[in-house]
Amino acid sequence: MTHTYRIAPSILSADFARLGEEVSRVIADGADWIHFDVMDNHYVPNLSFGPMICQAIKPHAKTVDGQPAPLDVHMMVQPVDALAQAFAQAGADLISFHPDASAHAHRSVQAIRAAGCKAGLAFNPATPLDALDWLIDDIDLILIMSVNPGFGGQSFIEGALHKIKQARRRIDASGRDIRLQVDGGIKPDNIRRAADAGADTFVAGSAIFGQPNYAAVIAEMRRALQ
Ligand code: DX5
Ligand code: ZN
Repeated sequence: MTHTYRIAPSILSADFARLGEEVSRVIADGADWIHFDVMDNHYVPNLSFGPMICQAIKPHAKTVDGQPAPLDVHMMVQPVDALAQAFAQAGADLISFHPDASAHAHRSVQAIRAAGCKAGLAFNPATPLDALDWLIDDIDLILIMSVNPGFGGQSFIEGALHKIKQARRRIDASGRDIRLQVDGGIKPDNIRRAADAGADTFVAGSAIFGQPNYAAVIAEMRRALQ
């Protein structure tokens, strides 16, 4: 199944003092989804934001025509289930978690979907895709980390391209409608290689929010994807 490409700016690199404005601006400048990186200082060595901030930005996650832009919550937390429920109530549209952070990943997926959200599984650079063996029929998104989770602004790990290809093969064999997201170190000059490996959804934090003109970066990414 082929998909339209989606660009999901990570607001981890946005100006936290003006978060609502940053969210609406980056959508007006061409973003498709808002990627929301949740860090707990336990599963990853950093602390970011939680459900209350998600709820606060929800009304800002809209196009200029008032159409909602999906809130894509990436949970780098352990344990998973209670916070996933809180994010579902806070307006998340998709919720991804790391299967190695959940004692019962299948139950976590069920709970996310029962709460009305799409469910994603996230894989660190050294984590094999084995959890997909028994979960691919129940998920909506696979997130391949192309940096180690915890910080924005790191360099893209080339080995992730190989894992993206493996994940693409698994999705195609499943025949299911599953997005393949790459997260970490994505820039206009490597986005095409990630797409060629099979990714269709691209997280980018510092590449977009680190530049004064978000629209120009997003347009450059879309040109590279053409
Ligand atoms: C890392 C996060 C990423 C990160 C991406 O733990 O999951 O979403 O913010 O940032 P860049 O694009 O700067 O690598
Ligand atoms: Zn992320």
